[in-house]
Amino acid sequence: MNDYTEEINRRRTFAIISHPDAGKTTLTEKFLLYGGAINLAGSVKGKATARHAVSDWMEIEKERGISVTSSVLQFEYDGYCINILDTPGHQDFSEDTYRTLMAADSAVMVIDASKGVEAQTRKLFKVCVMRRIPIFTFINKLDRDANDTFDLLDDIEKELGIATCPLNWPIGSGKEFKGVYDRENKCVISYSDTQKGTKEGIATEIPLQEETRLRETIGDGAVDRLLEEMELLDGAGADFDLEAVRAGDLTPVCFGSALTNFGVEIFLKHFLNMTTTPLPRKSDIGMIEPTEKEFSAFVFKIQANMNRAHRDRIAFMRICSGKFDAQMEVRHVQGGKVMRLSQPQQIMADERKILSEAYAGDIIGVFDPGLFSIGDTLCVPKEKFCYEGIPTFAPEHFARVRQMDTMKRKQFVKGIEQIAQEGAIQIFQEFNTGLEEIIVGVVGVLQFDVLKYRLENEYNVEIRLDNLPYEHIRWIENKEEVDIAKLTGTSDMKKVKDMKGNPLLLFVNSWSIGMTLDRNKGLVLTEFSRN
Ligand code: G4P
Repeated sequence: MNDYTEEINRRRTFAIISHPDAGKTTLTEKFLLYGGAINLAGSVKGKATARHAVSDWMEIEKERGISVTSSVLQFEYDGYCINILDTPGHQDFSEDTYRTLMAADSAVMVIDASKGVEAQTRKLFKVCVMRRIPIFTFINKLDRDANDTFDLLDDIEKELGIATCPLNWPIGSGKEFKGVYDRENKCVISYSDTQKGTKEGIATEIPLQEETRLRETIGDGAVDRLLEEMELLDGAGADFDLEAVRAGDLTPVCFGSALTNFGVEIFLKHFLNMTTTPLPRKSDIGMIEPTEKEFSAFVFKIQANMNRAHRDRIAFMRICSGKFDAQMEVRHVQGGKVMRLSQPQQIMADERKILSEAYAGDIIGVFDPGLFSIGDTLCVPKEKFCYEGIPTFAPEHFARVRQMDTMKRKQFVKGIEQIAQEGAIQIFQEFNTGLEEIIVGVVGVLQFDVLKYRLENEYNVEIRLDNLPYEHIRWIENKEEVDIAKLTGTSDMKKVKDMKGNPLLLFVNSWSIGMTLDRNKGLVLTEFSRN
């Protein structure tokens, strides 16, 4: 315990995960609206604004008009201090998107009610499961025609393997959307389009016992169907169990419509009620409780080259314990140095503000002259512990990379190694042929362009990328027990090694992975590397 326990305990730090277009941005805007962080939803982080924002971040960002970086938003609501971590999607999906989840204590999963679970949600969900963090589901766009509610829940359970517990239940959808039934309070909240940008709009609550009034308001058909579905659900659905939610085994589900601002504040309230205060984190001296120690943090993301002229970087860190003060000296454990962090700042959408203090649960960005690596620990000078490292996630796109001018080998290797060290790309080599060729792996294809652009602009090296057909990569977990040379896979399998010499296998499809496992009994493959 320390004297800022209260500040720490009012913090809630979560990531929003979804497939592009499910409504993540719209929902975030509505959260900010309730928190009073913005007056009119859309004015801070509306897509259109983001698209045209002139930031001095990477040039490529400006050229493409997309945000390569993920941002952090902080706002106050009902006594809570909330940190939302955005997980970028579309083409700018990258390993950073996964790493962001390493800094969150819970996740909000937004699902489009007419689509169900989609590819990107599935990928991000896997990382949440690995961390066993609580996941809260918001099924969005009920004002449009939606899939059957039972089917939607079934889809989540089957596709993601997590039990669901609906906190409310939609009554119709699209033109027939009448509202939701609040299971805890046993009342119907009738749908009213509470107008896109404003907070006002009073939804009417009608207790289930007031059947006549209910029938008058939402109609006989809707009431009959609701009663029928409730009977089914009470017989079949999982019971609410906060322990299971906290362990990531059960996801509470709310239905609503972010665009019309229906069901958002109730979801936020439920969520804040159930989610956790900043979680303890594993280190080499055991679990560190947020309130137990003085300042400590770990770097989860490095944003390179915000200012091209200086080749500078910003290291994003999650504070894990205690209080950060801009004047304090901290130890960078991996670098073995005690220092003051330079220009600590909070990154809010496209704005940055210099901050003087922050607490466990918060995310800060600091100027990094090239000292930090992903996963590094910072703590007070008298301490020396290290937080558990951040895993390396499996890239899904691969290309062979060659420099056009063979005389520039040195710059090429230096550049590509530095970019890999920042975590934007992963580089591999042939396993034992001694060929000097480099294979690059990325989580999102845009990173290929980023690599090409940066090598040309920062290192003056032109490269050629030849795409390779591989889509899956697996680390060999029990590499000590396996004779890699003798390992037999499918004909299209390729053996490579990473920068640290770890053996890996590249596969064209998931069928080949299965075949290789079948042919090599005892082989253990993983999608994340903790080496
Ligand atoms: P994302 O961040 O997950 O990619 O999704 P975003 O919030 O940008 O929403 C994607 C589209 O879906 C947007 O429309 C948005 O207005 C719409 N949308 C979000 N929530 C709801 C909802 O509850 N109901 C309905 N009907 N639509 C919703 P767009 O036309 O693609 O973009 P915009 O021009 O409105 O920005």
